[in-house]
Amino acid sequence: TWTPGNIIEDQVAAIREQVGDKQVLCALSGGVDSAVAAALVHKAIGDQLTCVFVDHGLLRAGEAEQVEKDYVAATGIRLKVVDAAEQFLGHLAGVTDPEQKRKIIGREFIRTFEAAARELDAERHIEFLVQGTLYPDVVESGGGTGTANIKSHHNVGGLPDDLQFALIEPLRTLFKDEVRALGAALGLPEAMVQRHPFPGPGLAIRIIGAVDRERLDILRQADLIAREELTAAGLDRDVWQFPVVLLADVRSVGVQGDGRTYGHPVVLRPVSSEDAMTADWSRLPYDLIAKISNRITNEVREINRVVLDVTSKPPGTIEWE
Ligand code: XMP
Repeated sequence: TWTPGNIIEDQVAAIREQVGDKQVLCALSGGVDSAVAAALVHKAIGDQLTCVFVDHGLLRAGEAEQVEKDYVAATGIRLKVVDAAEQFLGHLAGVTDPEQKRKIIGREFIRTFEAAARELDAERHIEFLVQGTLYPDVVESGGGTGTANIKSHHNVGGLPDDLQFALIEPLRTLFKDEVRALGAALGLPEAMVQRHPFPGPGLAIRIIGAVDRERLDILRQADLIAREELTAAGLDRDVWQFPVVLLADVRSVGVQGDGRTYGHPVVLRPVSSEDAMTADWSRLPYDLIAKISNRITNEVREINRVVLDVTSKPPGTIEWE
């Protein structure tokens, strides 16, 4: 019978067998899959694992800290943090095209990860790379063993030939809910284990317009309010994802406090889905939507309007970019 305990036991034995006394590397994204994969490998081989977290400055409020503090505290994993926000924002400056944003973020991620991997490889020769590939990813890609392409993080190309590692994919036979159960059994922070899917390019593709620190900060505040209220309503598991989108180049007139304002709208995009291929807009309770709207317009000075996206996928995608 399937229990998290059985899976952990089997995987720990298999990983030990595969790795022997060699060194292993894993890139953490802040998401569930890489976090659980790394925790499993750490349970098997302890200190032979080193994790790298490239902080691109595009995560939501509290998420980088979750990786750097809570996750490390829960697992004892050795973590190298690369604070690359400056670099990413520099390259993104003035860029408004969605695919261009993705390309830049993917490229900078690979560059940064590669540099960190080289440095670590020089310290301790690394032979394996952990990937959080799940069963649906395996099926989708035809079932073959992949190369070290960091696909689960940014869906972009591979590492250079002189940096090829053998892969460890301890989640290859598992579905998402099984991975969550495993994460909980491994003692990972609840907020991390239950996190909704979040795109690799992060908040950059939820700012419609150019990305900068100020806009990221505005979106982070609004997004945090939406997440807090969804959780408080006990509805986290009723939605697949709940993007909050900042229409940074749009302004509308409002009245806030003692006068007329000319602020930005945010879009609430809660969706229900099985696999993100199709989706429907979530019929969240009106009271919840009202609460989120009131809090955002009261607490985030730059936002004076909140709108609800009532488009299914298709024709609308889940993300706005
Ligand atoms: P769409 O917007 O195409 O999104 O309906 C489907 C799912 O994919 C996520 N998404 C991405 N994930 N890199 C990612 O890792 C990306 O560039 C990207 N774009 C969209 C989206 O959040 C949703 O879960």
